[in-house]
Amino acid sequence: MQSEKAVGIVSTGKALPVGRLTNFDLEHLVETSDKWIRERTGIEERRILSPGETNSGLSLTAAKIALERACLKPRDIDLILVATVTPDMIFPSTACLIQSELNAFNAAAFDLAAGCTGFLYGLCVAEQFIKTGAMKNILLVGADTLSPVIDWQDRNTCVLFGDGAGAVVIREVERDRGLLVSKLFSDGSKAGLLYVPAGGSRAPATFRTVEERMHYVKMNGPEIFKFAVTVMVDSTKKILDLCDKKPEDLDFLIPHQANVRIIKAASKRLRLKPEQVLVNIQRYGNMSSASIPVVLDEALEEGKIKTGDLIAMVSFGAGLTWGAALLKW
Ligand code: ACO
Repeated sequence: MQSEKAVGIVSTGKALPVGRLTNFDLEHLVETSDKWIRERTGIEERRILSPGETNSGLSLTAAKIALERACLKPRDIDLILVATVTPDMIFPSTACLIQSELNAFNAAAFDLAAGCTGFLYGLCVAEQFIKTGAMKNILLVGADTLSPVIDWQDRNTCVLFGDGAGAVVIREVERDRGLLVSKLFSDGSKAGLLYVPAGGSRAPATFRTVEERMHYVKMNGPEIFKFAVTVMVDSTKKILDLCDKKPEDLDFLIPHQANVRIIKAASKRLRLKPEQVLVNIQRYGNMSSASIPVVLDEALEEGKIKTGDLIAMVSFGAGLTWGAALLKW
């Protein structure tokens, strides 16, 4: 009997808007302070779209880098998957928009919406297509541009988010490497903790929806905070247990970058050392589904991650969704 294929990430790329918005800039927009934002979130600045920059534009740039590093041509790609909750348009998908720019016409293309957990959902979907033998090379992009749907008058949310895109190429890898195990979860009964009320088919844009600021993110921050710490710890433990590993076996944890206090609280409960936990939130804020692939790309560029390293990725987000994956690099 043929054994299961091993599936892994073989290259990465990222793209960030040029515009930086610092905490000091935000002091001029809402009643806040650099001190409050740094102490309560760990964020110092974030990248924000400028006119002309788009989700698909960032996705395309990140994708081109990942493809080049994987030594693949666009025609080699079987599937383009973009994890995003902030596509350029309701339809067509951002994946189709970048397919056209790439000339990757042998690929199927679709978007996947799982909030900030989108990248991990995408990783697991891609794994299935490769394991069955249906596909060989998959381009997965985690891209979110939340700045156009953030209420820049709401200090509870506008200080938290940034825009960006991270891309990876996923394919078969050597045995005993790549994705070892993953677990995905969701609880739709908590959808009301983080959502954008209007702009979909339930409440299409009208003068009233605009006046009532219904096209912006609404969030119950403290509830999500408590939820996030619990599920990040539980799901990380679950994937480690499934592989008979312990937190101390991890070379790196790549957590979703939503708030440094969430990351610290979860890391403490997992008894991880600070050097095991990769953090870049200070420079980018919460980039939703782009956060994990951008941390991964930076850690690889800095030479932190080495072949054979054991890496856990864990995330939570709108839905609510959450999940974790364990990889041997
Ligand atoms: N500047 C100054 N004061 C502020 C700010 C700000 N930017 N934002 C909130 N405050 C105030 C509040 O109004 C409140 O004042 P009050 O006591 O007078 O009412 C006070 O600070 C404390 O507010 P809390 O909500 O208790 O602050 P908390 O410590 O919980 O931090 C935060 C708020 C940062 C939002 C935190 O709850 C958090 O990070 N939650 C998780 C959010 C998250 O991860 N969301 C993304 C999910 S992932 C995805 O799918 C996109």
